[in-house]
Amino acid sequence: MEIIVCKNYDELSKKASQFIIDLIKEKSNAVLGLATGGTPEGMYAELVKAYKNGEISFKDVKTYNLDEYVGLDGNHEQSYRYFMNKQLFDYVDINKANTHVPNGKADDLDGECKNYEKNLEELGYADIQILGIGTNGHIGFNEPAEELIIPTHVEPLVEETIEANSRYFDSKDEVPKEAISMGIGSILKAKHIILLASGANKNEIMKYFNNDKISTNVPASLIKLHPHVTIIMDEDAAK
Ligand code: GLP
Repeated sequence: MEIIVCKNYDELSKKASQFIIDLIKEKSNAVLGLATGGTPEGMYAELVKAYKNGEISFKDVKTYNLDEYVGLDGNHEQSYRYFMNKQLFDYVDINKANTHVPNGKADDLDGECKNYEKNLEELGYADIQILGIGTNGHIGFNEPAEELIIPTHVEPLVEETIEANSRYFDSKDEVPKEAISMGIGSILKAKHIILLASGANKNEIMKYFNNDKISTNVPASLIKLHPHVTIIMDEDAAK
């Protein structure tokens, strides 16, 4: 596991984007596993810059997002589909048909999950999987629990996550109570995992990367089992 501590958020964003830029230069039809949340926003801005400079093209790139809220359609401003369009997809030459975010409005949610996983499996999973981390150690929406689910599934959100994510909604009551999320297994099958952590509110949970343990109560800790992990954090998260 490689740990990179950056001076600040700007450096973190540049570092993270560089891994993706290098991958796309080497493999124009790369499969990217993407994350939402505040942390990767700077990285997406850097990718848009790299596209506009003519450094990379997303023409043949495929993307799979980690998760989506159940009940929100892609036009809802807090949906992760909307987030991805506004952060990246609308500003680069990606074919929207190659961008995948689970459908939180599917009539058959279990069928949607199975299909999402099957598509990922057929592609051989992500070349790079970007992850953020919740203050409770969740990745995607895999919440701390006695048992974790391996493939893409519907996950009930815990109180801490609803509270943390309510900052984006008008009120806490509007935060969906469930999400579709890639499972821990879908994440661990990526070829390279890059976890990003920024800000002082993440330093408590990042301490867990200082020991040789794993726990399903800190879902992010399971990535310690993966052979190719890069953790990029800023000094505030690393303190
Ligand atoms: C959400 C997402 C996670 C993300 C987390 C942290 O709950 N489902 O994928 O990692 O938020 O978000 P932030 O980067 O804003 O702290």
